[in-house]
Amino acid sequence: MKTIAIYPGTFDPVTTGHLDIIRRACEIFSRIIVAVADSTPKPALFSLAERVEILKLATHNLSRVEVESFTGLLVDYMRKRQAHVALRGLRAISDFEYEIQIAQMNRKLYPEFEIVYMMPDEKYTYISSSLAKEVASLGGDVSSLIPEEVQPFLRSKFNTGK
Ligand code: COA
Repeated sequence: MKTIAIYPGTFDPVTTGHLDIIRRACEIFSRIIVAVADSTPKPALFSLAERVEILKLATHNLSRVEVESFTGLLVDYMRKRQAHVALRGLRAISDFEYEIQIAQMNRKLYPEFEIVYMMPDEKYTYISSSLAKEVASLGGDVSSLIPEEVQPFLRSKFNTGK
């Protein structure tokens, strides 16, 4: 069976934790579309085009992965792509409350909507995009937080050497 999974997110920027989820999903799904949301609840550091470019670089060696942006509702984008399975990462119990809200809302809007949650390796459970940005802005080492390809982009935003 060929199943497309849509992995939606803000990815501001993609972290090593996101990448771990994408790699794991490659073992399960025939195609993974990483869908970068235009509208974000928090102001984004990177533009939509930058977030897509960074993700493309970080996933260039994964043949099952495509990266696209979307505007508007996730469910409308999924319908357009004829996909009904979304993929999200769960790092800790604290993610669960937000995730269940999104999942139920999306199912209300699109009854065929299904969601698959995957857990990253435990070494990534504390990582978030905000934390990576904070460490980078203060000149800290982000090499374990964001993929190698992403590091120059973050350095250039903050003009830091590490
Ligand atoms: N590893 C590391 N970090 C992870 C992670 C993982 N496996 N999974 C989640 N995160 C972190 C991110 O780093 C980010 O951290 P931050 O908030 O500290 O920056 C946070 O969790 C969430 O980011 P992300 O994974 O990019 O997803 P999101 O929660 O921003 O995505 C959308 C939300 C895009 C799915 C949702 O807003 C959406 O669907 N928007 C479209 C509009 C719509 O349909 N709205 C109705 C929704 S019901």
